[in-house]
Amino acid sequence: MSTPMAVFGTGYLGATHAACMAELGHHVLGVDVDESKLAKLEAGEVPFYEPGLEEVLKRNIEAGRLRFTSSYEEAAEFADVHFIGVGTPQKKGEFAADLTYVDAVIDTLAPLLKRPAVIFGKSTVPVGTAARLGQRARALAPAGVEVEVAWNPEFLREGFAVQDTLHPDRLVLGLDRERPGRAEEVAREIYAQLLDERIPFLVTDLATAELVKTSANAFLATKISFINAMAEVCEAVDADVTVLADAIGHDARIGRRFLNAGLGFGGGCLPKDIRAFMARAGELGADHALTFLREVDAVNMRRRTRMVEMAREACGGNLLGTRVAVLGAAFKPESDDVRDSPALNVAGQIQLQGAAVTVYDPKAMENSRRNFPTLSYAADVNEAVEGADVILVLTEWKQFCDLKPARLGKLVRQRSIVDGRNCLDPTVWRDAGWNYRGMGR
Ligand code: UDX
Repeated sequence: MSTPMAVFGTGYLGATHAACMAELGHHVLGVDVDESKLAKLEAGEVPFYEPGLEEVLKRNIEAGRLRFTSSYEEAAEFADVHFIGVGTPQKKGEFAADLTYVDAVIDTLAPLLKRPAVIFGKSTVPVGTAARLGQRARALAPAGVEVEVAWNPEFLREGFAVQDTLHPDRLVLGLDRERPGRAEEVAREIYAQLLDERIPFLVTDLATAELVKTSANAFLATKISFINAMAEVCEAVDADVTVLADAIGHDARIGRRFLNAGLGFGGGCLPKDIRAFMARAGELGADHALTFLREVDAVNMRRRTRMVEMAREACGGNLLGTRVAVLGAAFKPESDDVRDSPALNVAGQIQLQGAAVTVYDPKAMENSRRNFPTLSYAADVNEAVEGADVILVLTEWKQFCDLKPARLGKLVRQRSIVDGRNCLDPTVWRDAGWNYRGMGR
């Protein structure tokens, strides 16, 4: 069955959700306040890099199932089912999440509703937000118009967003238990195809659904910081954290995924989500429960400092006047996202210590230039490494993992490489005469 729906926000989350819901056969209106983004989307162009999304977007625009608008009036007129997929960034100078955009969707949409509506939140929010938004929506909707707020968190990873949306590990739906309504029935209709494929569907209360998302991200961040803490210990005794991760990862209770030690996590989700989680626990008087997340954050940030130290060591103890090539700017491969990018953070710190830093990334150049205009950027790997005293591999793009040491050796001033993602084979590089350093190995 095809359901007309509106999706608010056309960033990584909203644009993917809108296109994938159309792919499932629904009629979808994507809504955003940013006209330039809308113009691109309407032309079938994804405003960011996400493998596979453009095909889905174009196919569904051509099929007449997907459109975009900046008009909330049009959205209220068109759909009775609404998804909130706007951002919840970290507030400036604090740990808490900034809920301005989520609140704005409710404040603008609710007064315009003319028929009963179900609003599903997908954004990552502090627990308690859904209940508050429900109250707000009911207060703002015209008299006699029933409006329901349910929470349906999103677990997609950038780089795999289409796959994760169309074939999720699970679907989670949080309902307002005090006001039984139609949200579950509507969600079952919308996701019928996925439910037919026996994707687990967990129905719960609003607070649990919000917490599922926050705790999943906290767990992933903890797993990464755990292995990076082991990397610190490995560094102290010359042990190899990559072998350690392989060995403990064979235990099915632990699992090998998300145990890659290196420069640590960045991006628009994990760092700000663990901080917002701590801030919210504090407001709830449960801060003691999450003090360990402070350490998770600290271990993660220490990796960046350690990388700067390793670059300095590789340059003989002083970065002043050296040339440093930085390969990678995106917070992870298969993305052009540079939000809280460990790579650019390190590049910036090294530049502050007096090095001439040249950055190259296959997809994130435009975003990097905009956010870090003082760094130098190269058109390709060769240009970036020309005359370098040290090469830093800070994002594990496949093209960097496949680099040939003999060829690069002819371009650099010193054969020195620091592998911030442990994605290179130390033996191959050392055999080719390079001074190879990995993180925790
Ligand atoms: C994350 C969650 O995975 C996703 O479920 C949630 O919906 C949003 O946040 P994303 O930010 O796209 O997704 O990236 P992810 O693949 O989780 O990587 C996050 C960061 O951790 C990257 O900087 C990555 O380089 C780093 N990472 C990941 C490691 O350092 N080691 C690992 O083993 C795995």
